[in-house]
Amino acid sequence: MSVAMSHETVLLKEAVDALVWDDAGIYIDGTYGRGGHTAALLGRLSSQGCVLAIDKDPEAIDDARRRWADEGRFDIESGSFAQMDEFSEARGWAGAVSGVLLDLGVSSPQLDDAQRGFSFLKSGRLDMRMNPEVGQSAAQWLAQAPEKEIADVIYQYGDERFSRRIARAIVRERELDPIKDTLRLAEIIADAVPKHEKGKHPATRSFQAIRIFINEELDDLQKGLEAAVSVLAKGGRLAVISFHSLEDRIVKRFMRRETQGEPVPRRLPVPGAAAAGRLKLVGKAIRPGEDEVAANPRARSAIMRVAERL
Ligand SMILES: C[S@@+](CC[C@H](N)C(=O)[O-])C[C@H]1O[C@@H](n2cnc3c(N)ncnc32)[C@H](O)[C@@H]1O
Repeated sequence: MSVAMSHETVLLKEAVDALVWDDAGIYIDGTYGRGGHTAALLGRLSSQGCVLAIDKDPEAIDDARRRWADEGRFDIESGSFAQMDEFSEARGWAGAVSGVLLDLGVSSPQLDDAQRGFSFLKSGRLDMRMNPEVGQSAAQWLAQAPEKEIADVIYQYGDERFSRRIARAIVRERELDPIKDTLRLAEIIADAVPKHEKGKHPATRSFQAIRIFINEELDDLQKGLEAAVSVLAKGGRLAVISFHSLEDRIVKRFMRRETQGEPVPRRLPVPGAAAAGRLKLVGKAIRPGEDEVAANPRARSAIMRVAERL
């Protein structure tokens, strides 16, 4: 089976338009993937500008090193975008970054390569780690996690109402034979879900939940947003593209809090000044147009929010 090695970049022009205000600036692409946004950013920058990309995935890092070997304005770090403050400080860039982009979730090459373990449609090793060299795989976690923990993860990160039934089935089945294959897990879940939603594979929600848990995605997002605000220069832009409501809720709340500043406790004896907000919102949330969704169904659920550092 052929594996797509490219990734159809979502909201490409919109993201780059929102981010680039100084063509000689420093930009961070926190989710390199296959470099769609990075390439467009580099295309907009002058010879003075530069892009630091970050990705957890060793295959994304290899792609970047090969593709941009001769590009002096490009650099890449292997790790999480939650570490972008460290990466920036090491370069003397704290408070000097013009723009940060986070295009969350997984890339097409990750989804399409059955051996990465993200797909419920193809048989493959049940891994799901963006960096397969770090932490535990989905198979290792499912082999020993308590039933309640599995149910809680599937409920909280997948919004799956049949989470308890699914967790019970997983624990029953793993006692018969360890669950190491994506298709076997998908079948166990499909059998445990009594009502199948039209047009949606019954394992969709559970696979999303397990992936979010294994990669600590929401924790990283919270830390990444904080790190982004700390590295941005005055006037610097933060653009975040989310693909599901859990991510978008975190982004929306973070931006709202940073726009309004810390609330002052209502019964404070001396009405002290509220800690000032560090961001202002730029425009409304942006969604892909019909043409983009028609050309790239993965764009369907995307939503981008942009804010500016004050
Ligand atoms: C949706 S893709 C990005 C696609 C990219 N914008 C492009 O146009 O090719 C998400 C990428 O971010 C990476 N990723 C996800 N969470 C990350 C994190 N916390 N830190 C670093 N990379 C992360 C994934 O490994 C994946 O390669």
